[in-house]
Amino acid sequence: MDRRSFTRALLGVAGLGLAQARAQTPPDAWQAEFAARRAAQPWLMGFEGLAADAAPMALEMQGRIPPALFGSFYRNGAARHALGGERYHHWFDGDGMLQQYQLGPQGVVHQGRFVRTEKFLADSAAGRPVRAAFGTNPPQAEPIRSADALNVANTSVVSHGGELLALWEGGSATRIDARTLETRGLKTWTPDYTGMPFSAHPRIGRDGSLWNFGVSSVQGLLSIYHVSPDGRGVRTASLKVADLAMVHDFAVTERHLVFLLPPLVFDLERMRAGQTFLASHVWRPELGMRVLVLPKDRLDAPRWFMLPAGFVFHIGNAWEDARRGVIQLDYIRSPDAWWATQGLQDLMRGHYQSADHGAMALVTLDLQSGQARQELLPHVAEFPRVDPRFVGQRTQQVLVSERVAAGPRPGYDAVTRVDLRTGRADRFRYGTEVMVEEHLFVPRAGAPEGHGWVLGTALDLQRRAMLLSVFDAQHLADGPIAQGVLPRVMPLGLHGIFVGA
Ligand SMILES: [Fe+2]
Repeated sequence: MDRRSFTRALLGVAGLGLAQARAQTPPDAWQAEFAARRAAQPWLMGFEGLAADAAPMALEMQGRIPPALFGSFYRNGAARHALGGERYHHWFDGDGMLQQYQLGPQGVVHQGRFVRTEKFLADSAAGRPVRAAFGTNPPQAEPIRSADALNVANTSVVSHGGELLALWEGGSATRIDARTLETRGLKTWTPDYTGMPFSAHPRIGRDGSLWNFGVSSVQGLLSIYHVSPDGRGVRTASLKVADLAMVHDFAVTERHLVFLLPPLVFDLERMRAGQTFLASHVWRPELGMRVLVLPKDRLDAPRWFMLPAGFVFHIGNAWEDARRGVIQLDYIRSPDAWWATQGLQDLMRGHYQSADHGAMALVTLDLQSGQARQELLPHVAEFPRVDPRFVGQRTQQVLVSERVAAGPRPGYDAVTRVDLRTGRADRFRYGTEVMVEEHLFVPRAGAPEGHGWVLGTALDLQRRAMLLSVFDAQHLADGPIAQGVLPRVMPLGLHGIFVGA
């Protein structure tokens, strides 16, 4: 597809915003509802949001940071959930704030800076949201001109080819200064793919090249990016997919790309009728969970497998067992999309009904027979991460944030390393008053899979502080070997990376 076609396609999304007649309505009651429930439910502090950047602040440290962890731990997440008395209706709507924990011999310093997206600047200038978000169409919103006009750069972050990029999934990546966190502008991979969706879950394999995808819902297009290790060589392709689903993550193996397509399917008519992007998706369980496998060297030769209907945000890893002729993968599976579509909306007005119930699942795709098998593990969890040296290779250990006994609130209270072969879990429970964010492996050079450190953050509700914890990756149950306390509350976020000094 040429550039003009893409532009037309994006304007196809755009013109839809005009279709909705926007009456002169006052702000709705969400902000007031959230505020009313805030005092009785301390965990809501994690969803309150910020109005300004977070200036550099030192953590109070206990224990010693291993020199291998000197560097930057970057995290991203939605951080401005309300503006001018108008509160967004979904956790994924808010403007992205990139956070940096800078680890060094003198200790740890934290800072956070909102990504200055076009939307952030336009909304800030207006003093209220004037651009549509994933799950919110604000009153009197501006017409949508392009996907990047709505880009909030709030989902993840990647370091590749000498650049630090804040990632969304509906539009371009955003270039960030790795030291100051200042916004440098949108990333263009090739002229033909200007403004095209670039997902928040790129995979960097053993060869240092980066694979990613993007979903263009209106056009029913799945785009593929393959970027050389230095970031300069970019190969792109796009394929039409019927009943294109909300796809947040994918996996790579030595020879294949693997996509799980939950039956949460985009319906253009709903968007034309003025629904939000989120509400334009329909749960169609009769489609099952389709699995799309693309050979890396034959992106035009898809293979399809079928799993029972379910919803997925995240895949841990996938790899090929050539001897058995199978692809193995692990993912976090929910029986339906309720948590994604409704549960994460309710939080934004202070409602919590029932637990997020995604559990670990193991899948075997038999490349000979075309059959898919699935096994469920007894871990209610999210944010699966593997040793980054083994992306696309055989792995046995997955790190997750786990829900063990979190009580009547959303989220996770433990960090757990699950051995997929033995089923054994090495777990550290932070406690019921701590909300655990994503943790990641930082490997020790030359050591076997999963050996090194685990690094992650959590919100301590009693101390009203963030905890930055470092574990020996093989001994999580022993507790952190070093921990810093950041005496301020940061909004609960999504994904992060560690970049060594
Ligand atoms: Fe994600």
